[in-house]
Amino acid sequence: MKRRSFLKNAAWASVLLTGAPAFAACRKDAAQASPAVPSASLPFRADGTFKLLQLTDTHYITGDSRSERALRCVEEALDGEKPDLVIHTGDILFGKPDIPSAIEILQPIADRGIPFAVALGNHDSQFGSAREDVFSAIRDLPGCLNTAPKDGVYGCSNDVIALTAGGRTCRVLYLFDSMDAVILKGEEEIHSYDYIRYSQLGWYRAHSEQFTQENGGTPVPSLAFFHIPLREIEEALAAPDSLLGGINGEPPCPSRINSGLLAQFREMGDVQAIVTGHDHDCDYVLRYGNLYYIYGRFSGCDTVYNHLGRSGLSDEKVSGCRLFEFKAGAPNFRTWVRLYGGEVQQMLTL
Ligand SMILES: [Fe+2]
Repeated sequence: MKRRSFLKNAAWASVLLTGAPAFAACRKDAAQASPAVPSASLPFRADGTFKLLQLTDTHYITGDSRSERALRCVEEALDGEKPDLVIHTGDILFGKPDIPSAIEILQPIADRGIPFAVALGNHDSQFGSAREDVFSAIRDLPGCLNTAPKDGVYGCSNDVIALTAGGRTCRVLYLFDSMDAVILKGEEEIHSYDYIRYSQLGWYRAHSEQFTQENGGTPVPSLAFFHIPLREIEEALAAPDSLLGGINGEPPCPSRINSGLLAQFREMGDVQAIVTGHDHDCDYVLRYGNLYYIYGRFSGCDTVYNHLGRSGLSDEKVSGCRLFEFKAGAPNFRTWVRLYGGEVQQMLTL
C-alpha cells in the first residue's frame, strides 16, 4: 500500500522549501500561556445531551472530480445526524487553490448554521498560503468557533470549547495544532512530524487548572482533538486487549518526538480521550490505561490514499465520520462511526 512515502516527502519538502518563513508567526513557542479564557461555550440540549460530529482528512480540492464524494459525505452526514457541533481534525484541503478548497468543504456546515471548529492538519499549509492565512479564512466562516492564534502559543488552531448545562461547565473540548513537520538539529538530524510544544502544554494546563478550580477541585471530563497522533499510540496498540473496536488498516504515523502531552493529561486528570485523524486507514478505538485513543473515520475521497471498507480494507472505499454523544453531568460518553449512507458501526460507551 503506497500510503505515506508521498505524504512524508511532501511534509519534508514543505519544511525545507517553504516551512520556516511561511510559518514563522505560528511557530513561536514562548513559555507564557495566554489567560485561560475558553474560545467558546455551547449549551447542552434541553434533554441534557450534546452531539458532536468529527470530520477528518477531507483532503478537498475544489473543482476536482476526485473530491466529489467528500463533499457529498459531509452534506449527508450533517443532514443525517444534525449535530450540535462539528470538529474537523485536519487535512481539510489537499491542493490549489488552497483557501477556496478549505472554504468549499466547510461551507455546508456554515450553511446549516452548525457551530464548528478545526484542528489543522499537516497538509493544510502546504499548498501556497501561510497557515495563519488558511486559518484566518476559515475563522471568517459563519459559525466557526476558533479564535485568533494565541500570543506565544505554538501553532494556530489551539482552542478550548466549554459545554455547559445549568450555568456550569460539564465537559471541555481541547483542540491543539499539531502543525506539520520538523527537523531537529543535533549530532543526528531528527526528521519527524511536528510535536505539541512546551507553550501548548502550558496553555492546556492553565485552562485545565481553571476549569478544575471552578468545579470545586474536581477535573471536568474532557477530550482532546488534534491531527497527528502521539507516539504513545504505538505502545497502546501493542498492549493486549487494547483494541475495543474499528479497523486497524495501517501502522500509525505519529511524531517521533514525545511531547509530554500525555503526561500532562495524566497529571491534570481531565482528558479521557485523545481523538485524531492522519492515518486514513484506521478508525479504531484503543484503551490505554485510563485514556482512550480514538481515530476519526476518513471523510475524504480519492485525492489521497484510503482503503477503508465496511469491515476492513476494501476497494469499496467508504468514507464517513465519527460521532460523540455526551450527557450533562455524566462522565461517560458514547461514540460511533457513521458511514456514508447512514450505516452505524462501533457503538461504544466509554
Ligand atoms: Fe490526511
